[in-house]
Amino acid sequence: MEPAVKTWLARQARAFLRRVGLKEGQTVLDFGCNKGNYTIPASEIVGPHGKLYALDKERDILSDLQRNLQKRGIHNVACIEVSENDEIPLPAGSVDVVLLYDVLHRGYFPQCHERKRNLMKVHRILKLGGLLSFYPTHLKQYGMTLAKAIDEVTSVGFELKGRAYRRLVHDDRLVRGNIFSFTRKIQANKLR
Ligand SMILES: C[S@@+](CC[C@H](N)C(=O)[O-])C[C@H]1O[C@@H](n2cnc3c(N)ncnc32)[C@H](O)[C@@H]1O
Repeated sequence: MEPAVKTWLARQARAFLRRVGLKEGQTVLDFGCNKGNYTIPASEIVGPHGKLYALDKERDILSDLQRNLQKRGIHNVACIEVSENDEIPLPAGSVDVVLLYDVLHRGYFPQCHERKRNLMKVHRILKLGGLLSFYPTHLKQYGMTLAKAIDEVTSVGFELKGRAYRRLVHDDRLVRGNIFSFTRKIQANKLR
């Protein structure tokens, strides 16, 4: 990893996530956490009275993250391994914030209905009014548009609240990207 990326993760990532809306004491799900670039700074923000769930479908990735967390003495993160068809194993309406960064694209979810089904899983576990922070990526690569990506999110029962163009880490590089904030509306819409 480039030194500039390491520095951003160590010094800027917390400020980035606070601006996104993370706060002390919250319960946060990092969906598709991978090595935990965002899990670790998020866990530092929510602190000992909060909880971070780091979810991924790759066992080896989660084992590495678990080792890293132990090495750093971080105790408020629980790693969750899921298979693609699993529901998120958390109670309905139990999570304040979901980070969905660089996951919901056609590389992992080729079909629209797969992306929407995944969004409905997220909808179920978020508290009413809870925050979905969404970083859409690889749009051009897979012939997708930003408007369509946003429409997919709102179509399942989220309301778009804001958009910010920020510096952040993507694929271990420092880039600028669009981060979208959505809140969970009362009920999930039916898949269409
Ligand atoms: C490109 S990484 C993004 C990592 C992290 N969110 C970030 O922005 O640094 C995408 C991760 O999502 C995971 N993933 C993809 N599809 C998934 C699914 N259906 N359920 C859980 N994790 C999934 C992959 O295993 C991978 O670790």
